[in-house]
Amino acid sequence: MIALACDHAGYPLKEALKTYLDSIGRTYTDFGTYSEESVDYPIYAAKAAHAVADGTCECGILCCGTGIGISIAANKVKGIRAAVCSDAYSAEMTRLHNNANILCMGARVISEEKAIELTQIFLDTPALNEERHQRRVKMLEDIENGKL
Ligand code: RB5
Repeated sequence: MIALACDHAGYPLKEALKTYLDSIGRTYTDFGTYSEESVDYPIYAAKAAHAVADGTCECGILCCGTGIGISIAANKVKGIRAAVCSDAYSAEMTRLHNNANILCMGARVISEEKAIELTQIFLDTPALNEERHQRRVKMLEDIENGKL
C-alpha cells in the first residue's frame, strides 16, 4: 500500500499518479487533499508520513508545488526519509543509498510524464544491501534519537 498526499498545487499531479498506479495494479491510500482549494501542506504530509512510519503503508508519494515544503514536513516524522526528486538518477539513488521511504515531487517543477517515470523508478528500485549505506541510514535514526 502506497501513501499518497498533496496540497492544492500538487493535486493535479497526485490525480495523474493515481491513474498511473491504477494502470500498474498498485494499491494506495489517498490522504488528500482532494481539490485545488488552497490548503496547508504540513497537514497532508503528516497524514501520509505517519502511515508510512507506523507501517500501514510501505512507502509514500507526496506532491506540492515544489516538492520541498511537503518533504520538509514529512521528514519531521520519526522514521521518515523523504526525498525531493526531479530526475531519474536521484530517484534511483535515493532508494539505493538512502533507502528513502517517501518520494516527493514538485507539480510546478516537473511534467506529469517525468513524475510517472520517477515514480516507476522509485517503486522498482530496492535499497542496496551494503553495510556502508545501512550504517549511514542507521545514523539518521541516531540523529532522531539524539545520539548524533
Ligand atoms: C503553495 O503555493 C506552495 O507554497 C506549496 O505547494 C509548496 O511548493 C511549498 O513548498
